[in-house]
Amino acid sequence: MRISRIAVVAALALASSLACAQTIKIGFITSYSGLNGNLGPYMERAVRLYIKLHEKDLPSGVKIELITRDDTGPNPDKAKQLAQELVVREKVNLLAGVVFTPNAMAIAPIATEAKVPFVIMNAGTAVITTRSPYIARTSFTLWQSSYPLGQWAAKKFKTGYTLVSDFGPGHDAEEGFIKAFTEGGGKMLGNVRVPLQNPDWAAYMQRVKDAKPDTLMVFIPAGKTATAVMKNFSDLGLDKAGIKLIGPGDITTDEELPNMGDVALGVLTVHHYSAAADRPANKAFVAAWKKEYGANETPNFVAVGAYDGAAIIVDAIKALKGKMDPDKTMEFFKHWKNPNSPRGPISIDPETRDIVQNEYLREVKKVGGAFANVEIETVATALKDPWKEMQKKK
Ligand code: PHB
Repeated sequence: MRISRIAVVAALALASSLACAQTIKIGFITSYSGLNGNLGPYMERAVRLYIKLHEKDLPSGVKIELITRDDTGPNPDKAKQLAQELVVREKVNLLAGVVFTPNAMAIAPIATEAKVPFVIMNAGTAVITTRSPYIARTSFTLWQSSYPLGQWAAKKFKTGYTLVSDFGPGHDAEEGFIKAFTEGGGKMLGNVRVPLQNPDWAAYMQRVKDAKPDTLMVFIPAGKTATAVMKNFSDLGLDKAGIKLIGPGDITTDEELPNMGDVALGVLTVHHYSAAADRPANKAFVAAWKKEYGANETPNFVAVGAYDGAAIIVDAIKALKGKMDPDKTMEFFKHWKNPNSPRGPISIDPETRDIVQNEYLREVKKVGGAFANVEIETVATALKDPWKEMQKKK
């Protein structure tokens, strides 16, 4: 049997961490540059904020060290190389972070081989958690938002069109939406997949405009790409042609609303988190964020995935008294719950290690002079990833 270097190093790291373990090392990989490189800092700030607020609860003598790395956007080779280095050289106890699905997929086999628990704080393609028994996800799946969105849209619109980025989460958003929309009696007039980076927005928007659907469902990765969609939707006059723009909350991501301006007003989305939600736990989270990072700063859904990701890690460290055995950590993750996350009650599904959460219908409105995703209705409660639930029935 071939025992790889990575496995030997992991075994040694485990032995040494069990012996003296007082600094828990988290290898944190996210996007600080490249496509939507503004999202990485939201993730890191959220993790640091949670740790700062809760480190007093750690077992005495135990510290957390966050070792950050830039995967430079959707770049699986780079992500894999970084994860390998973090495991072999830095001997991290956990891996965490990751905005983009291709990067999460590339890291999954390393988590398995090295037995390093990997907490996914954003990447949302349904299949990711099936790629390693050492993965748990605290963010979302695109099926979780797009399937209830399709159910809701079928009651409101007769005809639909979808436009999605051509990679994992886009395919999931398209499939989940179309399934629910057509099951509910809606008729699809077309669906288009656009390149992840720099698509010719005008050409695609014109195609949609010519088809004259009642509604256009869009998924693109949040960040600056969301603003590009809004701008092109409006510049090509799709709003004036009476086409209603809808999508998972990625298209109205909180931090970009001020850059989008009035075109976002009235856009309806389904998502698990809005910074404008008035749950007390969210108000406390937003206030803590502003206190730490400045009055004009606001968290977003990437931040909440990471904040809860830090919570699951801190809780595991407490439960294991700082002795981070990987299998015990995963067992702990599988039964983790937080009735009071900023997004509402959440838990990990023990069967799939994926997040269970509510989904809210929201509308972009102006509140006190600022744009906000105002939650209107809870469209799904304690929702498990619908794709995995469907696979079970097959
Ligand atoms: C992903 O790559 O899974 C991803 C990226 C950005 C999003 C959502 C999902 O807004």
